[in-house]
Amino acid sequence: MDSIIVTGNGPVSGQIPIAGAKNACLTLMPATLLSDEPLTLTNAPRLSDIKTMTELLQSLGAEVTSMSDGQVLAMSSHNIDNHIADYDIVRKMRASNLVLGPMLARLGHAVVSLPGGCAIGARPMDLHIDALTALGAEIELKDGYLHAEAKGGLKGAVHEMRFASVGATENVLMAATLAKGTTVLKNAAREPEIVDLADCLRKMGAQIEGDGTSEITIQGVDRLHGATHPVVTDRIELGTYMLAPAICGGEVECLGGRIELVGAFCEKLDAAGISVEETDKGLKVARKNGRVRAVDVTTEPFPGFPTDLQAQMMALMCTAEGSCVLEEKIFENRFMHAPELTRMGARIDVHGGTATVTGVDTLKGAPVMATDLRASVSLILAGLAAEGETVVSRVYHLDRGYEKVVQKLRNIGAKIERVKTS
Ligand code: EPZ
Repeated sequence: MDSIIVTGNGPVSGQIPIAGAKNACLTLMPATLLSDEPLTLTNAPRLSDIKTMTELLQSLGAEVTSMSDGQVLAMSSHNIDNHIADYDIVRKMRASNLVLGPMLARLGHAVVSLPGGCAIGARPMDLHIDALTALGAEIELKDGYLHAEAKGGLKGAVHEMRFASVGATENVLMAATLAKGTTVLKNAAREPEIVDLADCLRKMGAQIEGDGTSEITIQGVDRLHGATHPVVTDRIELGTYMLAPAICGGEVECLGGRIELVGAFCEKLDAAGISVEETDKGLKVARKNGRVRAVDVTTEPFPGFPTDLQAQMMALMCTAEGSCVLEEKIFENRFMHAPELTRMGARIDVHGGTATVTGVDTLKGAPVMATDLRASVSLILAGLAAEGETVVSRVYHLDRGYEKVVQKLRNIGAKIERVKTS
């Protein structure tokens, strides 16, 4: 396993290109299952999760060809000869469950392993099951697999979700495009990745309105055709790199960044004393004069503060002036970065879904362990600002969601390297 060594090196400055969104690409790729014509994605990120989704689609019989150093994915599911999404792949990545809706819609049946829990929570699928059942699917849990049938095809319906689940919204959105009649999904998730998926499905001939709001209406069609679609910019990678000048000082321009992708996050940065300026190339971020101020944060579904930026924001708050409360309301166990940050001298009190952070003048470099994707990058951010050397182990977590992180941070003056440890 590799480790990343970060040495505090003062303010950073320069430009960071932001890649295509992992969480958009992971739902755009299964959309190929909805049509027997080719679907090509451009601006795709080069990540291990994308390789896992490629492996899954190929196991179902789809063709996936990666071109242009992984930034173009040419896919075709003309010959789907297997409708079983195997546990060995699904347990590696929860987003594998996004083949359920498209397979049900195109084939009329699907067998998808339950993903099992992961570091940040139990990750059940009841909202997916309830919504697809409302569209006429019969879904039974057997031997850890969901066995789903839609005899005679799916039928449009009105369905309100208990919680605005991103994945359940995506599964239903894709399934409903080929259902007979009209589907109205209420309390739908509003994330930009949902809008990106709807844009791609519309290019394939789907009839969708209301994406980006809490109520999405889909008029089923007989078939979808091929398309080419660029993956939307990754708002979580964007927010992550915006925190580099915030925590170290200096000024960084995040190329491709747009305010509307990180609205609530930028409001919190402004309150903390960080300036964000829109340029013709992206977002320019700098620390205003003086020390970063502590600000309270509660994670919520979009357009609220994203749970996927909570760990990174905690790293910034560890060095802020004053105390703040970070409330994690999306996942039940998403503070595993806290004890690792504490090893670096941070003062964090965790009680259930709430963490109270009291800022310290400086963090001290230390050996720390990555526990999940976003926790791993919060440790890197802390290491950028800490005195001395921080060694982050188990960085395979990082490879799931951040392409070329060492190179991107080195290009803005960070002292960082990746080493093989075993
Ligand atoms: C997506 O996960 C993202 N993953 C997550 O990003 C992100 O944190 C999450 O949305 C919330 O924004 C991808 O898009 C691939 P949810 P998803 O369904 O769809 C509960 C990252 O770091 N729930 O909105 O799985 C669930 O347990 C990852 O890139 C149910 O109870 O999230 C959680 O507490 C991490 N029943 C909450 O809802 C269900 O059927 C939010 O889950 C489904 C979800």
